[in-house]
Amino acid sequence: MKILILESERYAQAASGLIMEHILNDPSGVVGFATGTTTPPVHEALVRRFGETKTAASRLAVFNVDEYLGISPDDPRTCLSRMKSQLYEQIRPKELICFRSDAPDPEEDARRVLREINGAGGLRLQILGIGKDGHIGFNDPGTPWEFENVVVSFSPSSQLGKADFWGGVENVPKRGATLGIKGIMNARSLMLLAKGESKAEIIHAALEGPVTLNVPASVLQLHPAATVVLDRSAASRLQQPRDF
Ligand code: GLP
Repeated sequence: MKILILESERYAQAASGLIMEHILNDPSGVVGFATGTTTPPVHEALVRRFGETKTAASRLAVFNVDEYLGISPDDPRTCLSRMKSQLYEQIRPKELICFRSDAPDPEEDARRVLREINGAGGLRLQILGIGKDGHIGFNDPGTPWEFENVVVSFSPSSQLGKADFWGGVENVPKRGATLGIKGIMNARSLMLLAKGESKAEIIHAALEGPVTLNVPASVLQLHPAATVVLDRSAASRLQQPRDF
């Protein structure tokens, strides 16, 4: 696992540079993106980079790592709507693969997503955020690891964690679809993005603690090509010395 620690002022610029380098170096396969509060500035910087490299997106297949279920795809709070407004509408990728938030049969839809990813050459890079409890995508602590794609019911604590974004816990969708841990591990490369003091403890647990179901992001320790991009605050509890 490669760990890069950046000054927070340079974070979006540097992380977007790493993603772009990846995109330009390997033209085959799908790049998976993630929503949250960490990734939007990185997406903004990526839009500028695509502006400078006009052809890159015309060959690009993209995927959203997770999606809320039981809501209209036009709702601005879906992961798809947010990724469209942050990135896809500007760069216009060749192919967009995503879970349908209004799928009548979400399990079948999750299988369709997997077929489309495989048909497009598999995931070459999956970008991930991390929750304060160590979740990646919608794989909350305790989620089994054997699924490539999975439909999950959010636990009460997971719903509470999403309450602010949804304007109250009563508004949080009850279910979501996500690339499962096995699907994440199948990606040829992974890039986990984390910023800020509030992530310091979980980053320490995920990168330096035991690999455990209780900290889903700890699975990255087992991936052959995982890069973790941190700012100094998110890296502040790491015990082993790291290069800045
Ligand atoms: C949500 C998303 C995850 C993402 C996480 C990180 O839970 N479903 O895919 O990893 O947010 O959130 P943030 O970047 O806001 O800390």
